[in-house]
Amino acid sequence: MLNAFRRPVLARSFTSRAVNGFTEAIGNTPLIYLKGLSERTGCRVLGKAEFQNPGGSVKDRAALGVITDAEEKGRIKPGGTVVEGTAGNTGIGLAHVCRAKGYRCVIYMPDTQSQEKIDLLKMLGADVRPVPAVAYENPKNYNHQARDFAKTLDNAIWTDQFDNTANANAHYKSTGPEIWEQTEGKVDGFICATGTGGTLAGVGKFLKEKSHGKTQVWIADPPGSVLYSYIQSGGKLTERSGGSITEGIGQGRITNNLGTFVNDIDAALHIADAKSISMVYEMLDSEGIYIGASSALNVVAAFEMAQKLGPGHTVVTVLCDGAYRYQSRLFSKKWLHAKGLYDAIPDGLKKYAVLD
Ligand SMILES: Cc1ncc(COP(=O)(O)O)c(C=O)c1O
Repeated sequence: MLNAFRRPVLARSFTSRAVNGFTEAIGNTPLIYLKGLSERTGCRVLGKAEFQNPGGSVKDRAALGVITDAEEKGRIKPGGTVVEGTAGNTGIGLAHVCRAKGYRCVIYMPDTQSQEKIDLLKMLGADVRPVPAVAYENPKNYNHQARDFAKTLDNAIWTDQFDNTANANAHYKSTGPEIWEQTEGKVDGFICATGTGGTLAGVGKFLKEKSHGKTQVWIADPPGSVLYSYIQSGGKLTERSGGSITEGIGQGRITNNLGTFVNDIDAALHIADAKSISMVYEMLDSEGIYIGASSALNVVAAFEMAQKLGPGHTVVTVLCDGAYRYQSRLFSKKWLHAKGLYDAIPDGLKKYAVLD
């Protein structure tokens, strides 16, 4: 009986036809059976390999979703401009999709971001505008500046990734159905952390509907985010403490995307950075999978969910992006020591921290 759970779910199926450009290459990512964690829990623990999207992350789906939605609603016409406030993967996804579709792409970001990120977006053809890093409440916050700039142009949109529900809808229409099909409808649990909430809300909604409420959907939350306390307190508290080395996840409010699903979330897990960093190394050593810290947090969360559900269950999570964008930190001894995380890595795996 258990052997059935230890076997890979499906071999990857390939479409027989060529896809039409970058945008059609988004999605249809493999669902990877994580052998070590599955064997330790007696469950199938599966990771959706979103790092295999052509722009390198789960945010390619959201980028395509918000632009396609604007096109369908007639909000942007050929030759138009796409404006967003983002410091990370969404900007990369938007820059790629804009090139593929012939739009101009303008990205506002806090000026605290690394030169590497600025350079990458510029290489992808985006007009990058670093602005002073001020709180969301301040009208000069990078998100508000993006919105205000878009209003000054003709034929331009602010894609508004946090509150534009076309983001969650992209996952409802693609990521959710793919997971359902790849597990042949046998998915007992889905868990991931949230930034905009698009992935969790879109996938969660689809799986809940398809399973008639049977699939448990849990949220994983890093330190410094309010969502764990929000779910645990039944929506009463938004407490936050500490901060996290993870990027792209953690939130101080219920975004519109998360709001479409927040009342259907069954439980929350809080995952400390020490566990996430250790999992970056464990996944590399035992599975050969090179993932960033938000993905590693998701894998820890899927492992803990599987332990709580007990043997015989199938639990799915999201491998959001690769470690390539963070390797100068995640594999640097100096950085790990500075963050107090070097000793979180098991002794036998410290050999992977090859950078000084
Ligand atoms: C690396 C990474 N992980 C996870 C997420 C969270 O995804 P979502 O915005 O769908 O909640 C993001 C979002 O930007 C991200 O960049």
